[in-house]
Amino acid sequence: MSDTIQKYKEYVMTGFMKSVVPIVIDKASGATVTDINGREYLDCFAGISVVNAGHCNPRVIAAAKAQMDKLVHCSSYIYHVQPVADLAEKLAHIAPRGLTKTFFGNSGAEAIEGAMKLARLYTGKHEFIALHASFHGRSWGALSVTGNMGRKKRGGPYAAGVTFAPAPYAYRSQWPNDPEECGRQCARAIEDVIRFTTADDVAAFIAEPVMGEGGIIVPPPTYFKEVKKVLDRHGILFIADEVQSGFCRTGKMFAIEHYGVEPDILVTAKGIADGFPLSAFTTRPEIAAAYKPGDHLSTFGGNPVSCAAALANIEFMEVEDLPARATEIGKYAIAKLCELQKDNSLIGEVRGLGLMIGVELVKDEKLTPATAEAEAIRDGLLRQGVLVGVGGVYGNVIRFQPPLIITRPQIDRAIAAFAAALQDVSQPAQV
Ligand SMILES: Cc1ncc(COP(=O)(O)O)c(C=O)c1O
Repeated sequence: MSDTIQKYKEYVMTGFMKSVVPIVIDKASGATVTDINGREYLDCFAGISVVNAGHCNPRVIAAAKAQMDKLVHCSSYIYHVQPVADLAEKLAHIAPRGLTKTFFGNSGAEAIEGAMKLARLYTGKHEFIALHASFHGRSWGALSVTGNMGRKKRGGPYAAGVTFAPAPYAYRSQWPNDPEECGRQCARAIEDVIRFTTADDVAAFIAEPVMGEGGIIVPPPTYFKEVKKVLDRHGILFIADEVQSGFCRTGKMFAIEHYGVEPDILVTAKGIADGFPLSAFTTRPEIAAAYKPGDHLSTFGGNPVSCAAALANIEFMEVEDLPARATEIGKYAIAKLCELQKDNSLIGEVRGLGLMIGVELVKDEKLTPATAEAEAIRDGLLRQGVLVGVGGVYGNVIRFQPPLIITRPQIDRAIAAFAAALQDVSQPAQV
């Protein structure tokens, strides 16, 4: 056993891994990571959907290094620093209309907490509505609005005043062949949730425009417009959690752009700085004004190095037109995966937007989740040098979320490896 793995076993509290995969990553570049033995892996998970502009993107690294030589940290609650100002201005230009003021934190969960607190202060209301199958982070408030027992277990009871509405998950709904109807019914259900389960004191509805951890659930095109009508009738804010779907992942700078509605608060993290720790929530000036001096602070939030990296990252995305690349390569990958589906009944559904792609595996026509098979396929891919994620409420969705600079030959390699792993799992070797 390597020295690194030995130390992990003895000293690192991982909190998530069931078993530590015996690989020690040494370096990474573009869409590949390399272990300490020099073996290369094609990374089709991008560090959980983070390094959208590629591992160690040279322009991002150069910007971070230049900033490091000047200033790494300065107390964020009194002084002004240039990278924070420049990044906030940039976000105001690229965020959905009207969202021009940003608060910076360090992680997705932290930004979710800050956005929820702000929504309560602005509206003077206290409750939240979230979706089944959602995921918003591991802190207590974020878990309180997470609709997945798998993530919440052993941590409850959670915050009072949170209710859940059905997710527009057409494949597992009564309308598997009519996603639009599923979306309409799920939007309508929010009206019932308000009427029957709340105290008419709802500050905000929180949702991921494309649901990541829940299994890459893509709401149908009219869903959020219908939802917004309900929210507007009741004076409820819309918090869009774009921690995973933001920064070109779905073929738009932000996934909510696919739906033609503007959220009141946009929460971002992961892809914002290509791997440097940073998160943000961005809102309208009148909502931002609900935070009075002393209300909110994060010591490391808006770290100058992370902000400089984020600026270079976003510029790279614009110059290289990563939304277009994600759209094009994503369509190509989905088409190839759909081809595989024709000959393999284990693939229940292939779905996704841009390069946020999920393949849901099922054992039969009753859609019994093929959870063990999903894990076996992930392991099979790992043996072939391809990294993917496994997720979904039932742990049966293979997730392809590579860096958006991935090339077609690399996608071909990943899908060929997936086909081989699928074959092994579908037809176990005879003994
Ligand atoms: C949609 C969404 N929100 C929030 C989070 C939490 O982000 P973090 O792990 O940076 O706290 C995640 C993480 O996976 C996420 O996917």
